[in-house]
Amino acid sequence: MDFIQAAIERAREERRRRTENAREAPARPRSPHKATVANVETPPDRDALWAELTEFQPRDKRLERNLIVSQRAGPQAKHFDMIRTRLLHQLRANNWRRVAITSPGSACGKTTLALNLALSLGRQPDLYTLLAEFDLRRPAMADLIGLGGGRQFSNVLAGDASAEEHLIRIGSNLALATNRRPVPDAAELLQGVKAGLAMDAIEAKFAPDVVICDMPPLLLTDDTMAFIDQIDCVLLVAAAERTNMEEIEKCSAELAARCNFLGVVLNKCRYLERSESYGYGYGY
Ligand SMILES: Nc1ncnc2c1ncn2[C@@H]1O[C@H](COP(=O)(O)OP(=O)(O)OP(=O)(O)O)[C@@H](O)[C@H]1O
Ligand SMILES: [Mg+2]
Repeated sequence: MDFIQAAIERAREERRRRTENAREAPARPRSPHKATVANVETPPDRDALWAELTEFQPRDKRLERNLIVSQRAGPQAKHFDMIRTRLLHQLRANNWRRVAITSPGSACGKTTLALNLALSLGRQPDLYTLLAEFDLRRPAMADLIGLGGGRQFSNVLAGDASAEEHLIRIGSNLALATNRRPVPDAAELLQGVKAGLAMDAIEAKFAPDVVICDMPPLLLTDDTMAFIDQIDCVLLVAAAERTNMEEIEKCSAELAARCNFLGVVLNKCRYLERSESYGYGYGY
């Protein structure tokens, strides 16, 4: 307990320093967005803490029906594994931890990408990944993986429940934070102090190496921007034949001004080379 408290304190101190630095240097083009908990040490009992989370084993058929194909290595997971490798390289090089996935409009494939990426990361032994659903107005993740029950991550963000009650574990090193019910005042919750503290506390306790945040569409709500200061870096998903260049440019500029912008994942490409597409149409 003392270990966790000390880790939370260190994370808070780090965030305070960052905010103060940002205030002192307003002319800087963008803040460094260092991982808030990059300095959090790995708790000696991390394996045991993760093992205590409720385990869930999604059914292959359910996953495949929803285009979630990265649970096993193979040609269908190839593109997600490539994104994983590039992402890990960036995270390690910059000491970042939290990556947000957003898109200009809806239904570009954010949640599908987030789940595939998380499962791909989960195949990396000794790498602990947390996938957290921040699209609180339209929760979808639990249904996509066939998870029943009333787990509600927003309660943890609001400081009303413990993470242990609401996280589930797939395999030994992938945890998911999902929601069952929509949250109408999502922007207020995400902007509030409690949500940031809850994330710091989760990271201090469970010490995930990577945190993937599945965010809402950027142009439809202010939820993503409300939480952007808590994020280290961001990926934008665009859907071929759905997202236009103007939207991509607008979102890229907005994100780059506020966060470390990793780039655009072009999804739903129908016209990839046969050898590149493997039937799932993920371009990068
Ligand atoms: N590469 C793809 N090829 C074909 N269909 C896809 C692809 N990726 C996702 N889809 C489908 O597109 C739909 C939307 O996907 P998903 O829910 O992942 O998008 P989203 O961006 O998270 O949507 P929302 O904005 O509603 O949260 C789903 O039916 C999904 O199966
Ligand atoms: Mg989604």
